[in-house]
Amino acid sequence: LSSFSHLDSLSQSVPCFGIAFDIDGVILRGHSPIAGSPQALSQLYHHTGSLKVPYVFLTNGGGVPESKRASELSKQLGVNIQPQQVIHGHSPFKQLVNRFEKELIVAVGKGEPADVMTEYGFKNVVSMDEYASCFDSIDPLAQYKNWRVDSQKSSSKNGISSQRVKAAFIVSDPIDWGRDIQVLCDILRTGGLPGTDIAHQPPLYFANDDIDYQAVFPSERLGMAAFRIALESIFNRIHPKPLEYTSFGKPKPFVFQNAEIVLKDLLPLLVHNLKDAKPENFDNHCFKTLYMIGDNPAIDINGARQAGRPWFSILTRTGVFKGKENHAEHPADLVVDTVEEAVDYILKKEC
Ligand code: G3P
Ligand code: MG
Repeated sequence: LSSFSHLDSLSQSVPCFGIAFDIDGVILRGHSPIAGSPQALSQLYHHTGSLKVPYVFLTNGGGVPESKRASELSKQLGVNIQPQQVIHGHSPFKQLVNRFEKELIVAVGKGEPADVMTEYGFKNVVSMDEYASCFDSIDPLAQYKNWRVDSQKSSSKNGISSQRVKAAFIVSDPIDWGRDIQVLCDILRTGGLPGTDIAHQPPLYFANDDIDYQAVFPSERLGMAAFRIALESIFNRIHPKPLEYTSFGKPKPFVFQNAEIVLKDLLPLLVHNLKDAKPENFDNHCFKTLYMIGDNPAIDINGARQAGRPWFSILTRTGVFKGKENHAEHPADLVVDTVEEAVDYILKKEC
């Protein structure tokens, strides 16, 4: 590698560049790798299997703890991915632990939203499935739903229906929009005590604000912002004050600033001599270029552009973006067909 920063404290050198990969529409579609992504990633490792180039997954998706996602991705992509290399839309929720550590919070969405929040350190979390099962008849349509929600866990949650919910977190894409909108309206209108009088709205957090994203189906699927708009429209019709909420995820600049910190924290993994592998040895390290490889112009490219230097945006044609030319409103620094082409470009330029 030619773009190296030689650190005084280290005999080894580490790259002056790093890569952030979007997942849906770049690395995977649904659960399947696409566009040569396993081959592209394998180029970022030495033959011994150790990491050669610092990289992270910077996705607005999620729903499982980062440790679990790292092992799922390792299996899907055939490389050894560390939990710290996975940044989900909901990863910044852990910064709210001090505020809600012991308070009752409700975690909404596909996968294991309560486990995600518990792993972050929240001590009193219930999933929406468990929470809804604590109230008789809270969902008048439940009897018509031919899928079964595992309510066994709720036996350990006695008395939850009389405890005040202090915040609701939309961790991942909600499955049962009808029930979730109903119960969230109940929580949010009553100050966290469904079935009681109108009171001040508790805080509401969304892991991302993606209107759509690329899954397996050829055209884009509705994302978390679509759910947010549905909830907000209904809430604002039935409640005197407009819905208050905070959304995380790309394209917010802090997500890219955090990714830069995480990429820097990976540098000790690239050093072979264990005694040199201390984070403080890289305090002065400065990335010359950080590449964001994404498929969504309004989210990935817009975010990298807003974050500014050292970010360089690469737009692929394997997901939300399918155009021939660059995107008009959010032009990328480079447009390629696939992630494999993007990684080839980066390694040619940097090595
Ligand atoms: O639900 C996932 C979607 O919002 C986007 O995922 O990997 O394209 O940021 P990604
Ligand atoms: Mg994407």
